[in-house]
Amino acid sequence: MKIDLLSGETVTSRLPELDRLLTDAVQNGASVGFVLPLADGEVEAYWRKVGAEVSAGDKLFFAAFDEGGRLVGSAQLALEPRANGRHRAEVQKVMVLAAHRGRGIGAALMTRVEAEARARGRALLFLDTSVGAGGATKFYERLGYTLAGGIPDFAADPDGRLAPNAIYYKRLNASTPGAQ
Ligand SMILES: CC(C)(COP(=O)(O)OP(=O)(O)OC[C@H]1O[C@@H](n2cnc3c(N)ncnc32)[C@H](O)[C@@H]1OP(=O)(O)O)[C@@H](O)C(=O)NCCC(=O)NCCS
Repeated sequence: MKIDLLSGETVTSRLPELDRLLTDAVQNGASVGFVLPLADGEVEAYWRKVGAEVSAGDKLFFAAFDEGGRLVGSAQLALEPRANGRHRAEVQKVMVLAAHRGRGIGAALMTRVEAEARARGRALLFLDTSVGAGGATKFYERLGYTLAGGIPDFAADPDGRLAPNAIYYKRLNASTPGAQ
């Protein structure tokens, strides 16, 4: 297994695999911004938007590949662009194909996310995840993220039920806050 940082162009060139990854996550109940049933073209439109954001330098995109070169997981790091927040970044949509979970791929993605954040002076990471069935609170707690709080009824899980979220953060031992 290897983790690569992909360009925006590469993201849009791998749409079928990315569609499969996101659809698999949502169909297995993950709260990653979508509710079932997924509309035609909804997932592809989402990935095209991500590709454009990566090309614009607004976010980093990480992909996990298995030994056969198949894309089995991904993660995103949104870089806060405002002048007062250039020391922080938001971890978004960490996903691993259901059939490949529990083998350390999610943790490996997060290790790479944190290394790239550090290298860019993004010393404060934050994220939110559902506290409902679609969330991954235990995953982030295992990785050393601290619970900051949560908001009731924040978002619908894929089954349409509103669930509270949990907001986590982690301080990285990076230097040069504010550096890009
Ligand atoms: C969350 C997710 C990315 C974890 O990926 P993974 O490859 O299975 O994770 P790992 O195998 O690297 O597990 C890392 C650690 O977290 C723990 N963990 C992972 N998922 C867990 C879960 N659902 N409940 C409890 N612990 C979990 C593992 O046990 C492991 O701890 P250990 O090293 O002490 O055994 C994966 O379950 C997923 O894609 N879920 C759907 C999408 C989602 O909910 N994403 C988060 C919202 S942004």
